[in-house]
Amino acid sequence: MSLLERGSLAALSAALDRLEAGFAHLPEAARAGDVVTLQRVLGDVAERMRDNYPYFHPLYAGQMLKPPHPVARAAYALATWINPNNHARDGGRASSEMEIEAVREIAAMFGFGRDFLGHLTSSGTFANLEALWVAGQLAPGKSILASEQAHYTHSRISAVLQLPFETVAVDGRGRMDLTALEERLRRGDIATVVVTIGTTACGAVDPLPEILPLARRYGARVHVDSAYGGYFMLADGLDADVRAAYDAIAEADSVVVDPHKHGLQPYGCGCILFRDAAVGRFYKHDSPYTYFTSDQLHLGEISLECSRAGAAAVALWATQRALPLVRGGEFAEQLGQCRSAAKELHARICGSDMFVAPFAPQLDIVVWAARGANVAESSRRARQIFDEAATRNLHLALVELPVPFFPAGTFADSPERHITCLRSVLMKAEHLGWINSIWLRLLDASKEVKDGQNK
Ligand SMILES: Cc1ncc(COP(=O)(O)O)c(C=O)c1O
Repeated sequence: MSLLERGSLAALSAALDRLEAGFAHLPEAARAGDVVTLQRVLGDVAERMRDNYPYFHPLYAGQMLKPPHPVARAAYALATWINPNNHARDGGRASSEMEIEAVREIAAMFGFGRDFLGHLTSSGTFANLEALWVAGQLAPGKSILASEQAHYTHSRISAVLQLPFETVAVDGRGRMDLTALEERLRRGDIATVVVTIGTTACGAVDPLPEILPLARRYGARVHVDSAYGGYFMLADGLDADVRAAYDAIAEADSVVVDPHKHGLQPYGCGCILFRDAAVGRFYKHDSPYTYFTSDQLHLGEISLECSRAGAAAVALWATQRALPLVRGGEFAEQLGQCRSAAKELHARICGSDMFVAPFAPQLDIVVWAARGANVAESSRRARQIFDEAATRNLHLALVELPVPFFPAGTFADSPERHITCLRSVLMKAEHLGWINSIWLRLLDASKEVKDGQNK
């Protein structure tokens, strides 16, 4: 069987020999492991882990989930033999340096100058929290604005930070509505506009080039949440308005991207960047028990979290060695394949009388509804197709979307404001080669649902 990648195991063993050789000057100290227990418990783990959707397989085309790149997985595992802590250089000398290098490459990808401040975090949520915390430090008590389609955590983070939070309406493609934004900015008291470059539900890209001058005119900061979408910075084949949004990121005050989403990393890897390094002053602390013995910058001096996995930085550094963050490179090409897969699936949906798509994908997330007489029937069908597809090993996702995303007249007038739709995040490059198989299973599942209703 060849479902799970194993080539990295031999490379990991060889790298472990090299790592150990670096400590050969020390007296012997290896602890004998209890191999029998190890084997038994690992066997139990394997059994338990079988209770999962197959996130690694191209027929898993549901949520934003996939395993890391083999290089990342092996590098992460290798680093855990040392288990560095990137809070301070003393806890992770090499891995702190690797984090600084890797983050510098991410900043360069976005076009940030050398004077930025940035570091890895445990997640996109924590990275966004740092951005909004800085916003609150700069303008205490002022509001945070994000679109109705922004990630739900922005409202929760604002509550944690005790900052007022408001949403702005979206247009028919799920992007922040500029008229609604200006109306709210004009009333004043806005500290920061959160611009989502790649919304979680639909992959919609807020119109950053138009938002930036508006926010500046009313004295608000601009924070870009591209936790999911950020790496499409490198992709070719984006629509012109989407490309323009990416090209404007360098002018934002802060940006978040999640290496543990499209960056091929294991969970535990978000990234926050601030364009102006001067915000570092807010992080200053003088804890008496932190072991800042080196006079170089410690990542713990510029991040809200204390302990952080050095292994996450090692994995990211290694991945960026294998797949540099450059336009036209292999990694960029893979993102292009994800995007092509999304366009291909959308084209098939548009050509079928079973489905209706509200709009074309802006990145690699496709959303569509099952045709039905009204919203309730369409929603019911979507849920049934979701279940039927799973019995054919095709794993999709469901999403609640505003009914006005669909052209007027798509559904008979109904009281519902939201409709249950099917959703697919085609975030594995392999998805492109599997679109036909995905499509045939989707059609088969949909026919089954329709036939069942006709009986
Ligand atoms: C746009 C966006 N922002 C923030 C987050 C939260 O990131 P995390 O799950 O890494 O905390 C997500 C997660 O899907 C997201 O899509």
